[in-house]
Amino acid sequence: MKNIKAIIFDAYGTLFDVNSAAEKCKNKIGAKWEGFANFWRTTQLEYTWLRSLMGRHKDFWQITEDSLDKSMRTFNIDASMKNELLSLYKVLSPFKEVPETLEKLKEKNLKLAILSNGTPSLLKELVKSNNLDNLFDDLFSIEEVGIYKPDSKVYDLPIKKYKIKSNEVAFLSANTWDVSGGGNYGYNSIWVNRNNNIFDNLDYKPNNQVKNLSELINLI
Ligand code: LAC
Repeated sequence: MKNIKAIIFDAYGTLFDVNSAAEKCKNKIGAKWEGFANFWRTTQLEYTWLRSLMGRHKDFWQITEDSLDKSMRTFNIDASMKNELLSLYKVLSPFKEVPETLEKLKEKNLKLAILSNGTPSLLKELVKSNNLDNLFDDLFSIEEVGIYKPDSKVYDLPIKKYKIKSNEVAFLSANTWDVSGGGNYGYNSIWVNRNNNIFDNLDYKPNNQVKNLSELINLI
């Protein structure tokens, strides 16, 4: 990839493991923890898209709580676990190669940033609790435009701030629909395909995919 001026990362699911909150409670939740975690994530994302389409914005923290309520009821999880799950969601663990890869990328002369549905304070706490706060130039939040990914106003944010062209961005996401959103906008989207999944049919196919972020070092 040539002429890249900024590497922009999605946060949830790409840098940070969204299932890690439920996984840390698996002794209490039992074998259904993973099904529950996946349902929570899917419901959370559906709420972002539905609220954007309905024009009824709520921030990502409120949506995380709303989707947790439904998921706990669906999976018969005791209501007393709610606060613990929410607290753990604020300090999700990064995937294991993430800190070292970011350190290496930091040595290149490129902007490094997060572009996420998360609120500014959630993103700040997430990177701080994982000691990653010195590695990013910016934490771009959709709260600045009040609509969720994949609205193009979201992908515009780093372009406007850095005054660069969309094809000068390498955008990494593990969420296929976000790879498509960024790619259709004009980014060089790279799919982080950790689980050997099938890509979407949403008009964009990424030229590059990686199994984890460490493979990025050879691409850029
Ligand atoms: C985010 C969601 C898409 O971080 O995971 O924006």
